[in-house]
Amino acid sequence: MGGLSDQTLNYVQLALVYDAIMGDPQGVICYARMLSDFLSGNKVLDLACGTGDLTLRLHDMGYRMTGLDVSEPMLKIARNKVSTDEVRFVCMDMLDLGLNEIFDSVVCANDSINYCRSLLQLKALFTGVNRHLVLGGPFIFDVHMESRLKEFSDPFEEEGVIDGLGYHWLIESEPPILRHTVTIYGRGYPVVEVHEQTVFELKDILSLLTDCGFRWTRIDPKKYDDLYLDEKYMICAIKEREL
Ligand SMILES: C[S@@+](CC[C@H](N)C(=O)[O-])C[C@H]1O[C@@H](n2cnc3c(N)ncnc32)[C@H](O)[C@@H]1O
Repeated sequence: MGGLSDQTLNYVQLALVYDAIMGDPQGVICYARMLSDFLSGNKVLDLACGTGDLTLRLHDMGYRMTGLDVSEPMLKIARNKVSTDEVRFVCMDMLDLGLNEIFDSVVCANDSINYCRSLLQLKALFTGVNRHLVLGGPFIFDVHMESRLKEFSDPFEEEGVIDGLGYHWLIESEPPILRHTVTIYGRGYPVVEVHEQTVFELKDILSLLTDCGFRWTRIDPKKYDDLYLDEKYMICAIKEREL
């Protein structure tokens, strides 16, 4: 069922260089603009918020934000970006959601859903979201397309230096897994983190959403500067019944 996956404990060393490697201010603005077309109400839960850039952007746009992540090192960076306690950051496993609160909208950005390792875990996540969402409220997320497995059948490698730390990033495909091996060099390193993401079939995701009390629509990337075109599905699921 739910429960913390050992893979999710991996955002420890990567937290130190995550923003420098993955940070994308323009992408955050575009993603937030897309979300604002689908969000309803004011109280929003950002699942797997990481270092908080999207959470904080939505806060700046006037939403009352809770960011949730399983990695304390990622949350520490998020908390350091904000001087106000108006944004709440919570360390919790999203597969075992227990906030005992109802939100107007829930989001989960940047293939974080793909950290679920099985359809059973995906179901635990969708069930938890249903129980934390107001009736009629949207759950907006993106997931890797199936084609990504083929895309990385030839491994992809990238390396660079950030703040005196060298890194090497390898992405390989072993269907249904996308494996990211990140090596960081320097200052007491090297350290290696291996992140495994499961690529689900869209039909299974949509069918689980229906089982978990949602109706869904696919979001058209063309309206949002081709956001994640040919890479990820963006989905808006509306809670239509209590579980
Ligand atoms: C690719 S990052 C995305 C972070 C953020 N949403 C963004 O857009 O930058 C994935 C995040 O998912 C978090 N994560 C993975 N599994 C999780 C789980 N079971 N519960 C909560 N967070 C999880 C990781 O700690 C990491 O911060």
